[in-house]
Amino acid sequence: MRPARIAILASGTGSNAQALIRKAQELGADKLEVGFVLSDKEEAPVLERARDLGVPAFLRAKFNDRRTHEDAILMLLKEHHIDWVLLAGYMRLLSPYFLKTLQSWHQSASQVVNIHPSLLPAYPGVDSIARAYTDRVSESGVTLHLVDEGMDTGLVLRQQKISLGNETLPEWSAKFHRVEHQIYGAFLTDIAEGHQKTCYFTET
Ligand code: GRF
Repeated sequence: MRPARIAILASGTGSNAQALIRKAQELGADKLEVGFVLSDKEEAPVLERARDLGVPAFLRAKFNDRRTHEDAILMLLKEHHIDWVLLAGYMRLLSPYFLKTLQSWHQSASQVVNIHPSLLPAYPGVDSIARAYTDRVSESGVTLHLVDEGMDTGLVLRQQKISLGNETLPEWSAKFHRVEHQIYGAFLTDIAEGHQKTCYFTET
């Protein structure tokens, strides 16, 4: 069996992308390959972070319409025979067309995953950590979920709670990022070890 091929889509800082790449490198190229990182934002630090770790990084931005933009991304995913698409702070919704095209290459399996800093369905969308903090919740957490066409609505794969004590917002946010990196890393390990089944790319 060839290594599972991963693509990471990210729009910003890229701490999750960096953690994923490091984890993949630790697990070994015989098990996992990060084919590329893609950003839709020219100024996104994630592009340089990926290149610094030896992973190709592509920018696909400034398309006139969503379909053309998604086709440009699909072309890359196809060229690289990508099995799993991992979203890590990717700030766009994916269309049903995009998701169905991917499924058609993966024997109808959904292999697009996102990490979100709340216990979904609570606090979907942006600024989830700050909104929960402002509400003085006693706990929030991190969710790993499959991606559908909605905003943070896909099937939940894993969740981990994070309690709120006397932390400042930056301290509390740092906890989320640590947990995100752990959860995503554990998921990647499951792919590498075959505990999470991969439907391999096949051209249709
Ligand atoms: C993370 O909090 C992730 O859960 C959310 O976007 C943020 C991305 O952070 N979807 P980073 O760019 O990986 O540091």
